[in-house]
Amino acid sequence: MSDNVLGFDTQRIHAGYDPAQHNQAVSPPIYATVAYDFRDVQAAKDLFSYTAPGFLYTRVGNPTVAVLEERLRILDGAAGAIALASGMAAISYTLLNLAEGGAGRVLVSPYLYGGSVDAFKKIFPKLGVGIDIAKNIADPAKLAKEIKPDTKAIFIESISNPNAYLFDVDAIAKVAHDNGIPLVVDNTIATPYLYNPIAHGADFVVYSATKGLSGHGNVIAGVVLESGNFDLKSEKFPQFSEKYYTLRDTDGNERSVLEAFPDTPFVSRIRFNYLNFLGASLSPFDAYLAILGLETLSERIDKQSRTTLILASYLEAHKAVEWVRYGALESSPYQALYQRDFKKGAGGLLSFGFKGTEEQREKFINAIDLFHYHVNIGDARSLLVNSPKTTHGELTAEEKEVADIPENLIRISAGLEDPSDLITDLEQAFVKAFA
Ligand SMILES: Cc1ncc(COP(=O)(O)O)c(C=O)c1O
Repeated sequence: MSDNVLGFDTQRIHAGYDPAQHNQAVSPPIYATVAYDFRDVQAAKDLFSYTAPGFLYTRVGNPTVAVLEERLRILDGAAGAIALASGMAAISYTLLNLAEGGAGRVLVSPYLYGGSVDAFKKIFPKLGVGIDIAKNIADPAKLAKEIKPDTKAIFIESISNPNAYLFDVDAIAKVAHDNGIPLVVDNTIATPYLYNPIAHGADFVVYSATKGLSGHGNVIAGVVLESGNFDLKSEKFPQFSEKYYTLRDTDGNERSVLEAFPDTPFVSRIRFNYLNFLGASLSPFDAYLAILGLETLSERIDKQSRTTLILASYLEAHKAVEWVRYGALESSPYQALYQRDFKKGAGGLLSFGFKGTEEQREKFINAIDLFHYHVNIGDARSLLVNSPKTTHGELTAEEKEVADIPENLIRISAGLEDPSDLITDLEQAFVKAFA
């Protein structure tokens, strides 16, 4: 059956893999090989000019990794996909690909994973990419004023870490497009099961596949997708028209990514520049774990969304809780956006404000038994963490204020356990905190 008539749940198990091309192996094999025999000189020439399909060297492409790429490409309705060694590699390569060269800036949401915030502050300016923190990401009508002549992209998370805020991606995409720049969406927390950023106007999507996509806390991986809708021929992005020796045709003429890969210039440029030369390749073993995890994506995210709403309602009614942030709660300021855009749930991440002293908060965390205390999300195991002291610990007091991360914030990532056991665990920890 053709891929575009199959439903999401069928695709996450079958898309991008044909057993007939792999000795009828039902589960995608792990291709533990560095290189691929060229067979003869003509075949090598065809491979090196990308006129014949095939693999050259595992740093830039591998058949197991390609299954993951193709599966996510189809699940997200994208034109192209590339898998990388981590979510941070996916974010870094994407933003460098857009704003490299010393004259580019990116306008970023203030509500982001701490690693992104730190990288934007510490590394990107040294690499020649200026970062501006948007003041009006929640008010797209005012956002256009923050775009400068050298701004090359807007970057947001569709569900923010750690606050679980939601955004009007359609409206933000329109502002970006009206100003000739693309919108990049980190869709890690939502996963393609809950939200399709491309259908809402995003041009490029990044994932940390470490989280809900793979879902078992056992692999670090990242993915970049391109919608195929953004015009990279624009003079704002001359790098996509640069000619490369590595992309020469069979006659030896150098080509640009737009000439060699007109349908997927963005991810192709990541592959043949950033992945090729900076080398954050995903191992085929890790790609296999991510493929395996994807097979149960819908059931896991469904259950995590249901459990998180139960936990959010329990916490909201608790006397030791100041506030709860979770889009599916009726009290959430994001309820209208949630109803409009998140038909399958709000995902497995919430944050709440602990009402008590710092000492009581620490007692609460130390008393947690079933929950793990660690810095991951989207795992089958439930976990919680005091984000301002850990994942977002490097933010200054001012940055925490802008990012709306108060010192009493505790982030929960719901796993797949019985919700009643999770509530029992939280309750006994609250009791001990106030004993
Ligand atoms: C929203 C988000 N994006 C990106 C990342 C980075 O992913 P990785 O740890 O795979 O590099 C994380 C990690 O927590 C994240 O939460």
